[in-house]
Amino acid sequence: MEQDVYLQIRSTVKKILDIDLSGYKDEQMKRRLDSWIIRMGDANWDEYFVRLKTQEKELSRFRDYLTINVTEFFRDFERWNSLKTQVLPSLIDYVKNPKNGKKSLKIWSAGCSIGAEPFTLLMIMEELNPGIAFSIVGTDLDRGALDKARAGGPFRQDEVKNINEKQMARYFRTDFPPYFVKEEHTKKIEFKEKNLITDPYDSDFDLIVCRNVIIYFTTEVKALLNNKFQKALRSGGILFLGGTEIIPRPNEFGLKNMGISFYQKTDEIKK
Ligand SMILES: C[S@@+](CC[C@H](N)C(=O)[O-])C[C@H]1O[C@@H](n2cnc3c(N)ncnc32)[C@H](O)[C@@H]1O
Repeated sequence: MEQDVYLQIRSTVKKILDIDLSGYKDEQMKRRLDSWIIRMGDANWDEYFVRLKTQEKELSRFRDYLTINVTEFFRDFERWNSLKTQVLPSLIDYVKNPKNGKKSLKIWSAGCSIGAEPFTLLMIMEELNPGIAFSIVGTDLDRGALDKARAGGPFRQDEVKNINEKQMARYFRTDFPPYFVKEEHTKKIEFKEKNLITDPYDSDFDLIVCRNVIIYFTTEVKALLNNKFQKALRSGGILFLGGTEIIPRPNEFGLKNMGISFYQKTDEIKK
C-alpha cells in the first residue's frame, strides 16, 4: 500500500471511528488493511468508506478488526500459573502488612477486550482466597468489546478452552456455547472506556496486566506506555505483559525484569 493512500485511510478512520492509527506500526497496519479490503470485495477504499457511512453493523465490524480484540480465558496458561503461584502471593502479603497502609489490592486489566482477562483475574483471586479486599478494573478503547464484557459474553468454545470444570460450574451460566459469565460475577469488575495512548491513568496499582496490546504499537508509543504504567504502579507493583512484549532496557523506565512477562516498579530511573 502506498504511504499517501495509507495516510488518507488513517485520517478517514480517525474521523469516522475516532481511532488514531498513528501509534500503530505502519507496515503491520497496512498489511491488515490490505487483507481487509480484499475480503470486503470493494474496488477501493473510497467505495468502502461510502458504504461504511450507511452501514452501522459494518462500521462496528471494521472497528473490531482494527482494534484486534482477540482474547481467551487464561490465554498463555503457564504465565497465568506463574502469576498465581509466584507473583500474587507476595502482592497479597504486601497489602496484608499494616505497615504498608493499603486497604485493598488494586488490579488493572488494560486493553481487556471482551473481558476474558479480568474474569481470569477474578477467578485466580477468588481461588487464592486472599482474605483481603481487592478490586479489578478492566479498560479498553473499544465500546462494543466493553458492552460484551459487561454482559459477561457471549464467549465461544475456543475462548473458554482453558476453563476447568469447577470454574465452568461456578462462573458460567451454562456449560455449552454461547458461554456467559454469571451476573453475580460480572458485577465484581468495573469496566471503563480508556484509550491507553491519550487518556490519563489512575494510580497506586499493585498489578497492571496489559497483554497482547502494546505489540501493535510503535517504539515511541511503547515507551510512552511504559512510562505511564510505571507511574500508575505503586512502588514494588508488578506489570504483567504478553509473552513477546519484552521491554529491552527496563531500568530506563524504572522497571526491573522479574522473569518472563513480569516487571516490577523500582524507584530508580536509569537513563
Ligand atoms: C488482542 S486484544 C488483547 C486482549 C487481552 N488483553 C488478551 O490478551 O487476551 C487487544 C485489545 O487492545 C485494545 N486496544 C488497542 N489499542 C488500544 C488503545 N490505544 N487503548 C486501549 N485499548 C486498546 C483493543 O481494543 C483490544 O481489545
